[in-house]
Amino acid sequence: MKFSISTSQMPNIKTDCLVVLYFLKGKLSASAAVVDKQTQGLLTQTLKQEQAQGKVEECYLLHQPRGLAAKRLLLVGCGDLKQLNERTYKKIINTIARALDKTAACSAHISLVDVEVQHRSREWSLQLGAEGLYAQTYCYDSFKSSVDKSKSKASKLNAVCFHIDKSKKTFTKALEIGKAMAEGTALAKDLGNAPANVCHPAYLVQQARSLAKVYRGLTCKVLDEKELKAMGAGAFVAVSQGSDQPGKLILMQYRGAGTAKQAPYVLVGKGITFDTGGISLKPSAAMDEMKYDMCGAAAVFGVMKAIAELQLPIHVLGVVAAAENMPSARATRPGDIVKTLSKQTVEILNTDAEGRLVLCDALTYIERYKPKCVIDIATLTGACIVALGHHASGLLSNHQPLADALLKAGQDTLDRAWQLPLWEEYEAQLDSPFADMSNIGGKGAGTITAASFLSKFAKSYKWAHLDIAGTAWQSKGLQKGATGRPVSLLTQYLIHQAKY
Ligand code: BES
Ligand code: MN
Ligand code: ZN
Repeated sequence: MKFSISTSQMPNIKTDCLVVLYFLKGKLSASAAVVDKQTQGLLTQTLKQEQAQGKVEECYLLHQPRGLAAKRLLLVGCGDLKQLNERTYKKIINTIARALDKTAACSAHISLVDVEVQHRSREWSLQLGAEGLYAQTYCYDSFKSSVDKSKSKASKLNAVCFHIDKSKKTFTKALEIGKAMAEGTALAKDLGNAPANVCHPAYLVQQARSLAKVYRGLTCKVLDEKELKAMGAGAFVAVSQGSDQPGKLILMQYRGAGTAKQAPYVLVGKGITFDTGGISLKPSAAMDEMKYDMCGAAAVFGVMKAIAELQLPIHVLGVVAAAENMPSARATRPGDIVKTLSKQTVEILNTDAEGRLVLCDALTYIERYKPKCVIDIATLTGACIVALGHHASGLLSNHQPLADALLKAGQDTLDRAWQLPLWEEYEAQLDSPFADMSNIGGKGAGTITAASFLSKFAKSYKWAHLDIAGTAWQSKGLQKGATGRPVSLLTQYLIHQAKY
């Protein structure tokens, strides 16, 4: 999709759909008033006839509007002009996106000039506008047969122009950022939605290799299960050994311009391509959803794509711990004790707490890169859904400035996280009579004890953990599927860090 900015006068723009805004009680925005005049009162008449209130999410689509070169005119309610906050703005963008999606319009011209979001810059509005409109066009139909494909109408929208008062370099940049985030998010969704019989560790390796082929500055290295075993990554192998699909540790290194001497920002994604629970087998209801257990990995892919697309001047190492958690004669038994790459031993009391096992060895492995900081992303605990539902990702960290920066990036992109405490008190729940620790923390604070477990492997650097069990996918109805979160949060964080 192409995004652009226009500062020319509103009327007589040739576009498939002209989008203008109005407010409570049908009050027209300045540019809507101009269009109203040009159409001899078409807007005023329509809003009156429909008894429009101007509420958010209200909109009217007119075809062949008289006096305009545009093929369609979309009138969009924006609520109270003086109380336009971030959430309302997001809703307005989504309303526009959905309305356009229902038409065959390929191009749209949106008059953003008259709205100002409280406490937010024009750049912010443009970035979220581009991202939101792009995201709405996402459609996962790779596995629909061609007959069905013609029915599932993927959006035709491919060019959006925002009408604002002046042109600035930072405005175009904001559009580029929004677009890159949406593209990264779409990749994360694709990987998350792909079924586990297709998306297995070797498939993720292919994905990494093809990303590295496309983008300047991006290289890829893979460690296979044999190498991991030889190296001493006993926790990782304990998960992977039950499956016929060999586990992989995938390393994608992105070096932007001028970062030869920069220590890397490291992202580590949980890539369990299917989580049956292993010998501690999960109940079968909704087990299909465990194909999403690689959404942490998917987010890493999405972020690598977004930053490489932008050619951010930053050094980032994207790591994916890819394995399948299966029961078999070779699978780990509850009670088995393994030695991790860090030499600490773990009593595996529950083979369904596998995410922390693949992650802990990845966290130890990347010490050799002397990271500037490390962020892991994982669909780690059902407890996180209990605590935070589906709106916020769980955030835990051993370094408050890092946590603060991530919280801010989440707020800026409306891809929000919420911090939970990582106090020492919780660590006692991991005590084991037989090994250095057990892999589960028993009743209470499941998200925190999982993070406590990981923290024992992240002592030598600044580290944060994002539990995305609740945010990485939606399970309801036709909306079912991967969300691509938290690609926006992480990309925004790196953009801030790169001072881009
Ligand atoms: N992948 C799951 C966590 C999960 C559950 C994500 C539901 C999304 C939805 C993880 O591997 C797991 O099974 N965690 C266990 C940990 C427990 C055994 C300590 C859980 O949350 O029940
Ligand atoms: Mn599990
Ligand atoms: Zn899992």
